[in-house]
Amino acid sequence: MNLIANSRFKFFPQFNDFEQAKWLSSRQKLQPEFAKAYFNSDSLQDKILQAIAEERLLPVKEILESFEFFARVRKAVRSEVVADLCCGHGLLGILFAIFERNVQRVILIDRNEPVSRQKLIAIANRIAPWISGKIDNRAENIKISSDWIEPDMTIVSAHACGVLSDLCIDVAIKSGGPIAILPCCYPRSACVAPLALQTQFGIEAAFDIDRTYRLEAAGYRMRWGFIPQEITPMNRILYGQIPNKKLS
Ligand SMILES: C[S@@+](CC[C@H](N)C(=O)[O-])C[C@H]1O[C@@H](n2cnc3c(N)ncnc32)[C@H](O)[C@@H]1O
Repeated sequence: MNLIANSRFKFFPQFNDFEQAKWLSSRQKLQPEFAKAYFNSDSLQDKILQAIAEERLLPVKEILESFEFFARVRKAVRSEVVADLCCGHGLLGILFAIFERNVQRVILIDRNEPVSRQKLIAIANRIAPWISGKIDNRAENIKISSDWIEPDMTIVSAHACGVLSDLCIDVAIKSGGPIAILPCCYPRSACVAPLALQTQFGIEAAFDIDRTYRLEAAGYRMRWGFIPQEITPMNRILYGQIPNKKLS
């Protein structure tokens, strides 16, 4: 049984049925000439992308991944505080600060801070000055006992590798807030899903089915979504929240 699903581009419909599909998963930095070709309007997102391209800051794949992930979950999981775990460059969390005006604070957390993050924050502050003071940037290991975990905060994470996605789930269950993760790298040795699911559906789907049940058991109502497979084959989103919970 095939549990891999695809989806059309939402934020960037210009890439649906795009002829140079390989470019969509490119790990090369976005170049100004491509920004001119594909992101040339006066829209907020195009202004951000033009600035990212000008500084040759981020790979095409990671840009499209963050925007398309954000497009699918932004309304379903937003709350006043959003934490982007294992954030790397931090683009996913920064998009919540820029586009979701009721998001008051975005915590960016990763044990490493690539140089791109500060530059990206500077670009975002310049183009979207209303985010000023909303970004709380931290370099630290994520732990379930971390002092930044607050009740009802939203947890998002793009490609927290392997069991780091499970750590994101633990943090969300502790906070009781919404969650949206895009898992990747599924280590067989860490998969606790029943063997029957592993053999029938494959290790990756079994892993995510088990994660979905774990969140449902904690009171969440979970959904699956997908970003376009042209960006990455690791394209499944697990997202949801505890129903009837009043979030600010
Ligand atoms: C595959 S990258 C994903 C980065 C980013 N979210 C993205 O979409 O490009 C995984 C990130 O997890 C971070 N990481 C790994 N273990 C961690 C830990 N225990 N605590 C915090 N960050 C961690 C790494 O530094 C890395 O930036």
